[in-house]
Amino acid sequence: MKKIAIIGSINMDIVSSVMQFPEPGETVKGLEFRTCPGGKGANQAVAAKRLGADVVMFGKVGDDIYGKQALQVLENSGVDIRHVETCQGVNTGIAVIHVNKEGENYIVIQEGANKHVDIDYIKKIQPFLDTCGLVLLQLEIPMETVKRAAQYCAEQGIEVILDPAPAAPCDGQLLRCIDFITPNEGELKKIACEDDMEKGARKLLDAGVKNVIKKAGAKGCYFINRDRMDYIAGFKVKAADTTGAGDSFNAGFAVARAKGYEDRKALEYANAVGALAVTKMGAQDSMPTHKEVELFMNDLKRGRGI
Ligand code: RIB
Repeated sequence: MKKIAIIGSINMDIVSSVMQFPEPGETVKGLEFRTCPGGKGANQAVAAKRLGADVVMFGKVGDDIYGKQALQVLENSGVDIRHVETCQGVNTGIAVIHVNKEGENYIVIQEGANKHVDIDYIKKIQPFLDTCGLVLLQLEIPMETVKRAAQYCAEQGIEVILDPAPAAPCDGQLLRCIDFITPNEGELKKIACEDDMEKGARKLLDAGVKNVIKKAGAKGCYFINRDRMDYIAGFKVKAADTTGAGDSFNAGFAVARAKGYEDRKALEYANAVGALAVTKMGAQDSMPTHKEVELFMNDLKRGRGI
């Protein structure tokens, strides 16, 4: 199986569960509070590792207790963190998250050390990237860094999967280096400046992306490239917390690719990983193992569901 590299954010999530989100200017009482490791990059790393991949994480934390805790969890999960750097005098990335009774969330991130993942760092890690067959990127580190990393990988023939979250304008230089881009509905609209899904996806393909995977949450996903458009149905589950759902999907797709699954099978697997992840609270805590995904898919095939 190809080794997977994740270049991205490492956060501590400050999570508050509420019955209903407050209106602007309103104060509401919360139900529960907890801190747990997160960050789209780190979540994808833990998820891919649980699914059985060989995973190396690239990124930065601050010299605070959150950084130590976040690294400990990555290390305990078996992710290679040897190249993660600690920035002195900087805080670790923070995400303030509100989750309601339906499992929906609002997330505000304070970038902290993630902002210091710069182009010099990418130059430094190039020899280690060369040992990987697939790279996962997101947009919680600076755009210039994402661009440089994607360009390098494209030059070296390393497959690139970009999760364009949080949504930001992506220029042609970046898009031309992307094998798979995986926006959700809102992200696709923002990046393509287009409300219609198919037109939006075609715009990204015209700009140079090779394949667009539009994530549609519980409904599944759409796969669009120059030759075809496919819909891959999702799995119905009771959502406890959707935080990290997109991350688990991307990790599932990456692991399936790394194992050599063809696109449709890889996306069915990714849908199953995403479905299982939302049935539990938290981001990294909720990521399923390969065995759990297999059991879930086999149960569904036998018509039992969960
Ligand atoms: O995708 C979920 C993640 O987004 C959270 O873990 C939070 O840290 C933010 O990065």
